[in-house]
Amino acid sequence: MKFFRNLVNLVPVALLGAAGAMAQSSDAVISAIQSFTSVSSNLADTVNDLSIVNFATDGPKIPAGLENITTAVTSFNAEFSPSTPPYPDDVAIEVVDVLTTFVEVHQQLLELIIGKHSLAAQFALTAPIAEALRDLEAVVDTFAFDLIALIPTEQGPALAQVNALNVTFTQTVTTYDS
Ligand SMILES: *[C@@H]1O[C@H](CO)[C@@H](O)[C@H](O)[C@H]1NC(C)=O
Ligand SMILES: *[C@@H]1O[C@H](CO)[C@@H](O)[C@H](O)[C@H]1NC(C)=O
Repeated sequence: MKFFRNLVNLVPVALLGAAGAMAQSSDAVISAIQSFTSVSSNLADTVNDLSIVNFATDGPKIPAGLENITTAVTSFNAEFSPSTPPYPDDVAIEVVDVLTTFVEVHQQLLELIIGKHSLAAQFALTAPIAEALRDLEAVVDTFAFDLIALIPTEQGPALAQVNALNVTFTQTVTTYDS
């Protein structure tokens, strides 16, 4: 079921590879956030379709998919440079806009993952999922702080999004740690 299609214009996954090329431009940063949104949305579809029937085969796609996002965010984080001048306010507003969509989609992904906790427990997958969640949370945190440094005029709204995502991450990790 592709219900996330309404929420986000899907960007080809191939963009992930190119995302790091020109990270100092706001266009590259915006494309990167959109590509993280897109892979999160795809993984949400996969997680949504998990059931007792296919979990043995497809359940491992949860940690594998989370690790893929971690890898993409990690390589993008390496592209941030402290010498990049902050973006003007009109661009900062655009950045917050795509960040807000990312947070929305990512929260839905995390909530779907929470919903599969008892299945994951039955198939002994909670520990690898918890680990993958912690790894992803750490790199998204780094990404968020580097991003916020580039948009000083919109720090408040950006932080509100990041904090909201942080709360959902904590809930998800707590669920999978128990
Ligand atoms: C993770 O990335 C690899 C390499 O691009 C891909 O083959 C695999 O399907 C991805 N896994 C998931 C669950 O998205
Ligand atoms: C998210 O919460 C953790 C503690 O739970 C904190 O260390 C981290 O700095 C927070 N991240 C952001 C971006 O607020």
